[in-house]
Amino acid sequence: MANSVGDRSAPAGAARPLSSVPGPRPLPLLGNFAQIDLASMHLQFEQWARDYGPLYRVHLGPRAALVVTRSDLISKLLRDRPDGWRRLQGMQRVIDEVGGKGLFSAEGADWLRQRKLVMGAFDPGHLKRYFPALVRVTQQLRLCLDEAARTGAAIDLQALLMRYTVDVTSGLAFGIEMNTLRHPDDALQGHLDQVFPMMMKRIFAPLPWWRWVKLPSDRAFDAHLAKVHEACLRFIAQARERIAQDPQLQQHPNNLMEALISARDEAGAGLTDAQLLGNVLTVLLAGEDTTANTLGWTLYLLHHHRGEWDSLVAQVDAALAAGEDMPRQFDTARAFERIEDCVNEAMRLKPVAPALLMEACRDTVVEGIAMPRDTQLICLMRPGAVDSAVASDAGQYRPQRWRATGPDHELTKASMPFGAGPRLCPGRYLAMLEMKMVLGTLARNYELIEVGTADGREPSERLAFTMFPAGLKLRVRMRR
Ligand code: HEM
Repeated sequence: MANSVGDRSAPAGAARPLSSVPGPRPLPLLGNFAQIDLASMHLQFEQWARDYGPLYRVHLGPRAALVVTRSDLISKLLRDRPDGWRRLQGMQRVIDEVGGKGLFSAEGADWLRQRKLVMGAFDPGHLKRYFPALVRVTQQLRLCLDEAARTGAAIDLQALLMRYTVDVTSGLAFGIEMNTLRHPDDALQGHLDQVFPMMMKRIFAPLPWWRWVKLPSDRAFDAHLAKVHEACLRFIAQARERIAQDPQLQQHPNNLMEALISARDEAGAGLTDAQLLGNVLTVLLAGEDTTANTLGWTLYLLHHHRGEWDSLVAQVDAALAAGEDMPRQFDTARAFERIEDCVNEAMRLKPVAPALLMEACRDTVVEGIAMPRDTQLICLMRPGAVDSAVASDAGQYRPQRWRATGPDHELTKASMPFGAGPRLCPGRYLAMLEMKMVLGTLARNYELIEVGTADGREPSERLAFTMFPAGLKLRVRMRR
């Protein structure tokens, strides 16, 4: 029986077909693919929302999908998971093929079980225990920044931040201090960087060429993937070894990896090796680009709003003791509210996950539109967050608008950079803590000379699964 979401009053029989919804004209077979450049796809989708309104139709290949931009509706739809909506089956298949069969692509009971384990590993209690290791990683970042300040060199900001986030995630989730910050040559991060762009290409490919023939780019991708798998399997083997040495860890795991290995369901079955590998890869990938890209955008915006940067520096100075170069206590870092406002505002304007894609689990109705089972739904996350109805001068970067906003505030409801509902990002506390450490350390020790692109223009938004600022360079000098 059809179920109605977003418009529960509409009887399913009265629903109009998706084909009657306005949208860009599709070509046979290709649909609207010819009008889409993958690396800036979200911008095209946002343009179509301006042309056709908050609910419109696109064709990804021969199939029609509904695009929604209203945040109240998106919030309702995201909350109707896992029963009403699931992630795209095509995306799930591509993720599973690269060995990433973990929480992000799981559904149903499989998802629920993994969700509990992953959530537990990233709760504030665990973050507090891990905090000394986070300080150690941030000290390595300081060494890199000191060097850059001494030489005056412009550094590739995204590459530096991604090494930081990989080091943090592998320390917290797997108990491994990688230090790719100081040893970039054998950096796992270099191989990880290749995974998202190819996954994005394959998810939106009109035809799955790689299942029939391997092009040189597929072979290069396989080689990178093999390196990533090798590292993940090494992490798993090391954790198994630690558990063998200290069986107590099964009851009291120190990190996500030990918890995943020790987990047993009611029948006593553990996660399969594929599920273990999948979750290691998922957490590495999900934690790397998202946080690094958000930090990149936040720094860019702060550099161009000097008053905001100055008040952030003042808050950090006021919170730290004389001679303290970064927060050394978990509670000090957590209390950096100005930084949280600056990051929230950056995520409102530059959400690094600008679209969430889902598929109907059953016949349903959205706003009077019939959505047969498996119909695709694209939630565009930015338009609702920059709507003038929720924020005055909505397009401007004004972190102070976040002051004193709680979960029920209009702004919090409209801007959902971490998603919403049961699949809300489990890494959000970690991400915020990392960003407070990085921005706090930068503010305390350095002056920002340059955060920008070589030609001085605003960085373009590029999409490679997540949305990043292209070509961002950072130059700093020591604060006097
Ligand atoms: C600023 C940083 C981050 C942003 C903006 C972000 C954003 C998101 C979004 C939008 C989703 C999809 C939510 C949904 O479907 O409703 C998600 C899911 C997820 N994120 Fe994050 N994320 C960030 C950092 C992290 C970190 C640091 C980790 C872990 C180390 C992480 C792990 C995950 C996982 C495992 C999922 C899948 C959850 C599920 O399907 O149940 N994320 N994230």
